[in-house]
Amino acid sequence: MVHTEHAYAKLNLTLDILGRRPDGYHDMRMVMQSIDLRDEVTVTFREEPGLEVSTDLSYLPRGEGNIAAKAAARFFEATGSAPRGMSIDIQKHIPVCAGMAGGSSDGAAVLRILGRTCAPELPRERLEEIGELVGSDVPYCVRGGTVLAEGRGERLTDLPGLPSCFLVACKPACSISTPELFAQVRTKKLRCHPDTAGMTAALAAGDLEGVAHRLYNVFEDVLPRRYAQVFEMKSALLGLGAMAASMTGSGPTVFGIFWDEERARTAREALAAQYPAVFLCRTV
Ligand code: C5P
Repeated sequence: MVHTEHAYAKLNLTLDILGRRPDGYHDMRMVMQSIDLRDEVTVTFREEPGLEVSTDLSYLPRGEGNIAAKAAARFFEATGSAPRGMSIDIQKHIPVCAGMAGGSSDGAAVLRILGRTCAPELPRERLEEIGELVGSDVPYCVRGGTVLAEGRGERLTDLPGLPSCFLVACKPACSISTPELFAQVRTKKLRCHPDTAGMTAALAAGDLEGVAHRLYNVFEDVLPRRYAQVFEMKSALLGLGAMAASMTGSGPTVFGIFWDEERARTAREALAAQYPAVFLCRTV
């Protein structure tokens, strides 16, 4: 039996870090938004035991090291059901190490497939709890949409969707280590925090300008100098007519919000001449 799921990328409309926790993780407050940039995840059940992962990117782990395999293992442990033999195939379109939760979303897609096929009575909240064992962004990726994520990332509150707009996401060739950025936050004082309440109010009012004014990611404040490209991309997006621009997650991808499709298309083309991965997206 073959089962396929879309694994959507996310953007952070806000990202705030509230403090370090006794378990070494950080307490977060983030407004996340799913976008239509997506991987395709296919699970094929088979008679022989064991689990294999294949992807169209040769450098991604094929076995236990892949977050999709970890998701399957945690699912069978947590539900107590006998592990089934399967192969997982992932066709990647979301850039890797980009702050767009590509890996987490692939893991979440595996959880949704296993939930649907092996434990249809399992509530979605339980699937999100299993996601927490796989990675901090996985509970959100199980759910998707427009969500306030708190705690380590597992306390989720649904929010009204981002008003209709066009999003241009631009990833430079560099990548940023998430633990390294969290370590920067511990040594430097954050100067500003996002207006999360204002962001959720703007979403509730369907006020795109209000959302755009409140895009904010505290990681930008502690980015080491060698990631100056992030700010160059933000300036480029604003110069090309974005209402606002921000880094997503722990970067280095930057995205801009556009009212107008034509302007967004022109911006994507201009940026694609300079950066390796540029996407024109809508929300999902
Ligand atoms: O949970 P996940 O494996 O995605 O986290 C990757 C790294 O990001 C962790 O090892 C930790 O350094 C950091 N992290 C954190 N606080 C969070 C989420 C992630 O410190 N809430």
